[in-house]
Amino acid sequence: MVKTTISVIKADIGSLAGHHITHPDTLAAASKVLVDAKKEGLIKDFYVTHVGDDLQLIMTHDKGEDSPEIHGLAWKAFSEAAEVAKELGLYAAGQDLLSDAFSGNIKGLGPGVAEMEIEERPAEPVIIFMADKTEPGAFNMPLFKIFADPFNTAGLVIDPRMHNGFIFQVLDVFEGKEVELRAPEEIYDILALIGTPGRYVVKRVFRKNDHVIGAVVSSERLNLIAGKYVGKDDPVAIVRAQSGFPATGEVLEPFAFPHLVAGWMRGSHHGPLMPVGLRHAKCTRFDGPPRIIALGFQVKNGRLVGPADLFDDPAFDEARRTANVIADYLRRHGPFMPHRLGPEEMEYTTLPDVLEKLKDRFVKTDIGYKAKIRHSEMLEEPNE
Ligand code: F6R
Ligand code: MG
Ligand code: MG
Repeated sequence: MVKTTISVIKADIGSLAGHHITHPDTLAAASKVLVDAKKEGLIKDFYVTHVGDDLQLIMTHDKGEDSPEIHGLAWKAFSEAAEVAKELGLYAAGQDLLSDAFSGNIKGLGPGVAEMEIEERPAEPVIIFMADKTEPGAFNMPLFKIFADPFNTAGLVIDPRMHNGFIFQVLDVFEGKEVELRAPEEIYDILALIGTPGRYVVKRVFRKNDHVIGAVVSSERLNLIAGKYVGKDDPVAIVRAQSGFPATGEVLEPFAFPHLVAGWMRGSHHGPLMPVGLRHAKCTRFDGPPRIIALGFQVKNGRLVGPADLFDDPAFDEARRTANVIADYLRRHGPFMPHRLGPEEMEYTTLPDVLEKLKDRFVKTDIGYKAKIRHSEMLEEPNE
């Protein structure tokens, strides 16, 4: 069986008229680097695209995951594209290339990475999801539905090859730890974690029968890596479909519900995740709303056959309409939570400055005094 690695590596290296869309010349610059690499035989195939302000490199090769050669190639493609972005004076040119030099692995340097090495099935349908103005945890709910929810995925109930369920590898992005949990046995534990998508991220999904990989998500949190927010970690995911994995339609089905995700405007707002075709992969309204595209390929001996632009379909019109209704509703909250994220999650904040400025104007109140007393103490000894 042919072993193929699929690497999807993305970076925001600058965009046109704000943070809303890449410039075609930057895609051309990145493509040129990959054309040469394909000619040299370093990669087998590639497809370059974008969603919003993120440049996406989809590559196939036989070098395995975390290959310094492949990561170095992606770094070169982004660097060349960033040079073009600088020449054109694009906005935030080079923003995700946090280091001046590449040192073997692109992780931690800014770009997002999702990679899986697979043994190709005779026919290998793969779906690449790419989202802008959101975070890796945005995939938590869809992946749970795809691989663990029988109301989404009929195959979990009626396909003997999937009936045993799947294993979720969940990453704690704060602690840098991961845990494997089994569905359906442990779905309440899985949900107890991944319902907090800013911290617990579904990183990989394996089929329980044979521990073969079914899905992988990029999970580099730029804010944690760089010690400060320098841009968002707009995520990508690779999902295998059919013959023992969820059908393409089961993989796409969760996106008919535009769930709320974090990352809209200034990385500091919640918004609905709108599924769109490539022609609408740009973030205009309030720098959004957060968008996701899905490209379907057949992978054959490392060759990428396709893509099919899977959300470019009237079947997702209603999801887009609902997303617009939700966007209107949320926007009316202006600077109020829960449209605006909580203070600990915001990419932009003036709160420390405001508190510093007002520190001498805050006066102690009786309520403030009582609030300092622990609740239990108050019950034992009423302070009246
Ligand atoms: C960036 C993004 C945007 C920016 C916003 C402000 O991916 O999502 O919403 O955060 O446009 O950008 P600056 O601070 O560069 O003016
Ligand atoms: Mg940007
Ligand atoms: Mg982006």
